[in-house]
Amino acid sequence: MEVFEKAYIGKCELKNRIFRSSTYEGMCDKDGIPGENYLSLYDKLSNNNIGGIITGCTFISKEGKVMQAGQAGISNEKYIEHFKKTTSKVHTNGSKIFIQLIHSGRQTREKDIKQQVVGASAKKSMYFKGKPKKLSTQEAFDIINKFGNSALYAKKAGFDGVQIHAAHGYLIHQFILPTINSRKDLFEIDPEKGLGLKFLDLIIDNVRQKCGNDFPILIKVSGSDDFNRKFSKKQFSNLIEFLDLKKIDGIEISYGTMDHALNIFRGDIPVDLILKHNKIYKVESRFAKKILKTFIFPFAIKKLKPFSPMYNLEYAEIAKEITKIPIISVGGFREKKEIEYAIKNRNIDFVSLSRPFICEPDFANKIEQNDNYKSKCINCNYCAIMCDSKYVTKCYKK
Ligand SMILES: Cc1cc2nc3c(=O)[nH]c(=O)nc-3n(C[C@H](O)[C@H](O)[C@H](O)COP(=O)(O)O)c2cc1C
Repeated sequence: MEVFEKAYIGKCELKNRIFRSSTYEGMCDKDGIPGENYLSLYDKLSNNNIGGIITGCTFISKEGKVMQAGQAGISNEKYIEHFKKTTSKVHTNGSKIFIQLIHSGRQTREKDIKQQVVGASAKKSMYFKGKPKKLSTQEAFDIINKFGNSALYAKKAGFDGVQIHAAHGYLIHQFILPTINSRKDLFEIDPEKGLGLKFLDLIIDNVRQKCGNDFPILIKVSGSDDFNRKFSKKQFSNLIEFLDLKKIDGIEISYGTMDHALNIFRGDIPVDLILKHNKIYKVESRFAKKILKTFIFPFAIKKLKPFSPMYNLEYAEIAKEITKIPIISVGGFREKKEIEYAIKNRNIDFVSLSRPFICEPDFANKIEQNDNYKSKCINCNYCAIMCDSKYVTKCYKK
């Protein structure tokens, strides 16, 4: 396989095997309606040779919003017209666009969403801390229905497909993981598979029922989480086997949960910036800042994984052995040679990138023209930390 050749997600033709991975924009108003800068971001990306673009996580209902400001939403019909401008611009530029649908579950804060936080269980996240209300069986069904409705609004708005966010510890992942899901209803952990798949199963069915079988569904999953040894490679394989049976159109393989968010990204840990902008660690008192900086952070940082090129490729390869469904590997691709290695040598169908496109929206053009091109992204993670601020996502180090 070649990087710059046509490839398919379901029946949707992409001009090459490069995806822009979902990247939070922070460019919407308080109701989740995209602003002009959202449109110009996707205009720029799609004008620069990216095969498929996945939007930042977009809420399907208000209680499923993340804690960051400026999140996009698609929770009712009124959003359709607002996204049409973006999808039509992307199509005019010759690219394809998939909307990432999310329910945050316990990974948000009551303060930010202005209502009670809910979860697959009442178990707290180590990072977000607040105790979520365990969803009743009926409430879980209501959310399944909302995923289906939002997918239909997305289809009507001209998106080429949806990506369902089942990774990074958000609600669907909370149902999947036995360390979080302690339910005793239809959504309980299947003891044989060691996973809670029913919630995702019914979401996929609901989306198909409303959007038809030809509307592409991508799923983003986490391959591993080192701090949670109860999610083994066997369980990961069971998850891929399940998605294979569901005949999903593409699986993007990422890492971990927000409890150790910097393990999802890898790279530098800009402590001062975190203390200034992160809603959870932001403290006013100089003393508290000093304690965090001198004692808490150095200890926590030691547990984090360092950046390495293509750091999730191993899990993409495991998935590739199990299924013929297109596999998308994300995490740590910074040069053409790495992208080619994954696609040509390891048989991975697509590679997706986030930070390199924040840094250089024309990165795909550059690597098409120059085999030796390397991303200017230095993994400083300023972009990731600034998502917690009131400012939009961009490269802050240029
Ligand atoms: C600023 C920023 C925002 C992100 N927002 C999302 C998001 O909304 N949804 C998601 O699934 N992943 C999100 N990610 C994770 C990326 O999609 C990707 O999995 C991760 O950054 C690793 O890829 P990279 O090494 O190419 O940056 C975000 C990453 C960054 C840096």
